[in-house]
Amino acid sequence: MSKTLIMIKPDAVKNKHVGDIIARIEKEGFKILGMKYLQLSMEDAKQFYKVHAARPFYNDLCKYMSSGPIVAAALERENAVAHWREVIGATDPKEAKPGTIRALYAESKEANAVHGSDSDENAELEISFFFKGYELVP
Ligand code: RTP
Ligand code: MG
Repeated sequence: MSKTLIMIKPDAVKNKHVGDIIARIEKEGFKILGMKYLQLSMEDAKQFYKVHAARPFYNDLCKYMSSGPIVAAALERENAVAHWREVIGATDPKEAKPGTIRALYAESKEANAVHGSDSDENAELEISFFFKGYELVP
């Protein structure tokens, strides 16, 4: 079993896809270890995405991610990181396979409905960004 940190981004919350995305999480066999609804500040977003600090889209991304409420969740499954990335599809919804969450719900390459950790190591870091130990149900 492994873990991943996912977010339902501001566009998907605004467009009322939270219920559908949580239903998909359950259908794909993930166990929910922790889940919260919150709005990041610009500073929080900069901290979360600091691995992307050198990328040209960093500032816009942080502005966007702090523009409205999100859902953050820690999930567990076999191959959690890779499986979630398969379920969400390519970063740009125009390139995402039909039936993936981004193909179904994303607005654009930036407002792309969901986040997923990109490695087991980053999953641990990202989970500890949002959750204290006692907020995760084993
Ligand atoms: P994520 O981290 O959100 O799961 O997405 P990802 O791995 O598919 O994409 P990544 O390269 O990690 O980029 C993080 C987020 O930055 C925004 N982005 N915008 N305007 C652009 O060219 C651009 N490229 C990336 C997206 O919101 C992407 O999910
Ligand atoms: Mg990424």
